Amino acid sequence: EGRSYFSRELLEWYRAQRRDLPWRRSRDPYRIWVSEIMLQQTRVDTVIPYYERFMTRFPTLQALAEAPEAEVLKCWEGLGYYSRARNLQAGARQVMERHGGQVPDDVEAVGALKGIGPYTKGAVMSIAFDRPEPAVDGNVMRVLSRYFCLEADIAKPRTRVGIEQLARQLIPEGAAGDFNQGLMELGALICTPKSPGCLICPVMAHCEGRLAGRERELPIKTKA
Ligand code: ADE
Repeated sequence: EGRSYFSRELLEWYRAQRRDLPWRRSRDPYRIWVSEIMLQQTRVDTVIPYYERFMTRFPTLQALAEAPEAEVLKCWEGLGYYSRARNLQAGARQVMERHGGQVPDDVEAVGALKGIGPYTKGAVMSIAFDRPEPAVDGNVMRVLSRYFCLEADIAKPRTRVGIEQLARQLIPEGAAGDFNQGLMELGALICTPKSPGCLICPVMAHCEGRLAGRERELPIKTKA
């Protein structure tokens, strides 16, 4: 089956070509959290200088929790989607109140924090704590829809749930953070929406979408 091949090859590819990004120099869950919130609607190249500035200004979760909201928004200026910044600070304040200032190594507790949905929960738990949780965003749905030639409509919530279950099964033992980041990276750099780079893809040999000549039709998405 193509599953263990996919997990093995993707992990090996990621570890060989891993980019040295600022949030990859630390396992601090606070730093991972901030990066994942910024990266949700914004490209890596744009995020980097904002991330560096934010971390200099708010180096710890406590510093962020105690800052005036206006300062947090000022630091976010230019990134857009300001509710992300407000929710992030609200979440940091919840961690102060509920968990004594430490992001807990607890999937449920992290998922209950303000601004943290299923994707961010999975990203933080896998990257910071190596918990075997999936982190499925649009990029990951595209990669898995193509590799497994899945024709389900990714606009439907139950399709996302199904893809999350599949992604969970693919996580290699003890390597959740690297595997999830490899999936994101494959979607961002190679398995792109318009002209996927199949010829340099580490998993092309068993990609069912590609083998069917259908990679450009996938994923199927009805509403915008
Ligand atoms: N996009 C979302 N999360 C990311 C991460 N951890 N590294 C690079 N790009 C990302």
